Amino acid sequence: MVLHQSLLAAVALLGATVRAAGVSGTAFGFATGTTGGGDATAASPSDISELTSWLTDSTPRVILIDKEFNYLGSQGECTDCKCCIPSSNTCGSSGQNAIDNSDWCSDYPTTTCTYDKAGIEGINVASNKSIVGVGSEGVIRGKGLRMENGASNIIIQNIHITELNPQYIWGGDAITLDGTDNIWIDHVKISLIGRQMFVAGYKASGSVTISNSEFDGQTSWSATCDGHHYWTVLGYGKNDKVTFTGNYIHHTSGRSPKLEFNSYWHAYNNYWYNNTGHAFDVGKGTNALIEGNVFSGVDTPFLADSTPGETFAVTSSDKSTCDSKLGRTCVANTLISSGSLTANDESVLSNWPSGETGITVMSASKVKSSVLANAGIGKVSSGSSSKRQIQPPPSVPAFSQAGPGATSRGAPHKWTWKTVGVRPTESPQPGQIPPQGSPQGGSFGFGF
Ligand SMILES: *[C@@H]1O[C@H](CO)[C@@H](O)[C@H](O)[C@H]1NC(C)=O
Ligand SMILES: *[C@@H]1O[C@H](CO)[C@@H](O)[C@H](O)[C@H]1NC(C)=O
Repeated sequence: MVLHQSLLAAVALLGATVRAAGVSGTAFGFATGTTGGGDATAASPSDISELTSWLTDSTPRVILIDKEFNYLGSQGECTDCKCCIPSSNTCGSSGQNAIDNSDWCSDYPTTTCTYDKAGIEGINVASNKSIVGVGSEGVIRGKGLRMENGASNIIIQNIHITELNPQYIWGGDAITLDGTDNIWIDHVKISLIGRQMFVAGYKASGSVTISNSEFDGQTSWSATCDGHHYWTVLGYGKNDKVTFTGNYIHHTSGRSPKLEFNSYWHAYNNYWYNNTGHAFDVGKGTNALIEGNVFSGVDTPFLADSTPGETFAVTSSDKSTCDSKLGRTCVANTLISSGSLTANDESVLSNWPSGETGITVMSASKVKSSVLANAGIGKVSSGSSSKRQIQPPPSVPAFSQAGPGATSRGAPHKWTWKTVGVRPTESPQPGQIPPQGSPQGGSFGFGF
């Protein structure tokens, strides 16, 4: 009995000392070893200026987001600024017009618009930070988070990022990675964003885990004119290894996700619900392993890309192939009131990279209830990541941050708010913008 109690005490002490302060659970999947601010003393910033300062300085920090930090208006508005009406907007004020971005607007009819400047450009988060919401109080309104230029070892957990000029294409991106490594995004909710809820690219994002997060696409300004958000998850990073699990992606209409370039995406045990367009668009260079997910009311779970990458989506009939190639039990996806998901390129399995540790793929039959109970803000205590796990020794994956993309496009990568995007053209049908796999002008239609 005495022995038992001291053992418990020792385990509790060990748990308390090795866990990153403020953070629930430990990073798993490809982002294993990510410790963020580590054991720095957790503290709450008093206002947006202190929050920005703590996020961007070079001190390892555990930053508690214990209230709403509202950036709306903090950088003023652009009033009567140049915008355009893309052909995708066939529904006026319930559609999305576009903020004029480089030549993106091209010959679309121009209009004026007023938008909040803070939403356009995210905060540049520096290395070795944990950004942790408290209870369900942690909200960052009107500004996103960017990690770039070698930023590494960052944890974002249990916060809600919302209201980045949702009326406008190019209104802002919630979470951006561009030249990073070891990023863990967990229990984050994202809603009402103008452009991408998550975007990686073009530089390498390195090892990333996106877990237990909610991508809420409900909007009054829909690029597909149906109340659903189109610009959800875009993976254009080079040399990315992404574990995407336990996420709830709902009321979207495209890019959930759209992937291209040299990356590995393992999407398991996610719940897609009510998507009027496409979920996966896997383009050239990407290896996608899709297993144990539920797609419910998803019009097009898997879009036919004109220059497809490699995808293996596990079904009951090819599960044994996956089992033997990966040396573990693979889990079939479930599709309910959805289109089809047929992709069995075995090279995905042969080439699967190492380093994705600590994962357990559950049966798809358990996914809906698990995801609804755990995904999003205010749920860390009931989530799997709240288990008192012993933190593994930090392992810094030997993974190059220098993607080939830095030079392949010829131009220096100056990331402004003109981030990754493909221009919707040609009178799109709902759910079909942009034209699949045909970026503007036959080359990349991005807004650099
Ligand atoms: C982050 O922490 C690691 C490990 O302590 C350290 O080597 C690195 O220099 C830190 N990075 C920055 C930008 O402070
Ligand atoms: C999907 O969402 C729309 C709202 O955008 C709603 O009208 C519709 O009933 C939903 N469909 C299902 C099956 O829940």
